[in-house]
Amino acid sequence: MNIELLAVAELAARDAGQIILAALNQPRRPDYKGQTDLVTKTDQECEDLIIKHINSEFPGHSILAEESGAQDTKSDYQWVIDPLDGTTNFVHGYPSFGVSIACLRSGIPEVAVILELPVNRLFTAVKGQGAFVDGHKIKVSNTETLNESLLVTGFGYDHGNKWEANMKLFKHFTDKSQGVRRLGAAAIDLCHVACGFVDGFWEFDLKPWDMAAGILMVSEAGGKVSQLNGINIDIYQDHILATNGNIHEIMLEHTKPVLESLL
Ligand code: IPD
Ligand code: CA
Ligand code: CA
Repeated sequence: MNIELLAVAELAARDAGQIILAALNQPRRPDYKGQTDLVTKTDQECEDLIIKHINSEFPGHSILAEESGAQDTKSDYQWVIDPLDGTTNFVHGYPSFGVSIACLRSGIPEVAVILELPVNRLFTAVKGQGAFVDGHKIKVSNTETLNESLLVTGFGYDHGNKWEANMKLFKHFTDKSQGVRRLGAAAIDLCHVACGFVDGFWEFDLKPWDMAAGILMVSEAGGKVSQLNGINIDIYQDHILATNGNIHEIMLEHTKPVLESLL
């Protein structure tokens, strides 16, 4: 079954990727979901197309998608879709955005596909079978210490307490590591942990569709994923720490108290 799920997710991601790449050659006018939370007609077009693919192959499955919300059929299978992760980057032409599609069974990610654009790198993972980029097996880095690490984070659209808390972590980890990148597409950041470009990623204020596929990608690439306090990852809790495993505990020493200070 997972192979069929993967095939549909891949096809849907590739088709959505074509729409996004074509839109890069045209003016991209955003609408605003919030002051800095952008959405374009491309987000909606891609989502409609991905859902069409899923509905035609698996009409009974549940769907949770960023722009259209939840279709709950009570199936064991649920697709979690971010049709365009990194919309702000896409609008500006900054080259870090993509399509993220996960299929969960009884709440556990089974299959993940993330298409990184505009580079067109296809990340795939199936539970228990490893993670791949363009068909080649990938694994997380083997960096052992924080001071040898390159990290990445993101800042949500809501500039409240969590945003302030993340500024503190950003300062701390910038001081203690070889640098902290901030690219603006959480699903892509997670792929970069999975393939070892960076050693760790953390973020507050994410949504299930930002994380679902990336969580499986990092786990299947041999990394570790948890909430910012070390508790098992839960896509309905809005924070994540994903690392190569080696630096997980040391990062938790800093993320945990900052998270607790928000409670
Ligand atoms: C956003 C990106 C960004 C993260 C935001 C997300 P969107 O997704 O993943 O990196 O910092 O919290 O909302 O809105 O571009 O799909
Ligand atoms: Ca997103
Ligand atoms: Ca999105």
